[in-house]
Amino acid sequence: MRRGMIASLVAALALASGACGGGQTATPTTPARDPALYDRLGRIDAIKEVVDDFLANVQADARINQYFIATDVPHLRQMLSDQICEASGGPCKYTGKTMREAHTGMGVTKDDFAALVDDLQKALAANGVAEADQADLLKALGALEGDIVSG
Ligand code: HEM
Repeated sequence: MRRGMIASLVAALALASGACGGGQTATPTTPARDPALYDRLGRIDAIKEVVDDFLANVQADARINQYFIATDVPHLRQMLSDQICEASGGPCKYTGKTMREAHTGMGVTKDDFAALVDDLQKALAANGVAEADQADLLKALGALEGDIVSG
């Protein structure tokens, strides 16, 4: 099931990157992907819903929840929604630590990172975010892996 989902995300990403530009004027089967990712995610209220579900998934996830035992969750919630809002082209300004500062010394592994991305993707899907838009956000956040993973 997960494998299928990942395969379809990859396919969606490949389609999204290859489907731009001119070409035939056949009846479009998908809407144009012009709007900023922020709009396509549903703007700030929808992002906050995703972050709430994401944090609930993380807290229930025995693979990684031990990292968050001493975390100020309301603060993290605010930081994550600002970060996702800004990263997707929205009007917010992320004011938290750099990803390197925030995660240094934690010993986060590649598997931990993958588990957290899995929890985020489930939250995006549960909130009706289209697969291509999930892929765009996960791609943007995936670029942070090198600053977060150290173990
Ligand atoms: C795309 C991946 C990730 C993103 C975008 C992300 C983002 C963030 C942000 C924005 C903060 C708040 C920084 C601040 O307070 O100024 C934070 C803190 C934190 N992150 Fe991550 N993170 C990611 C991956 C991970 C992973 C994989 C783990 C561990 C499994 C993790 C564990 C933590 C913990 C425990 C804190 C709170 C530290 C504290 O209590 O001060 N993060 N993260």
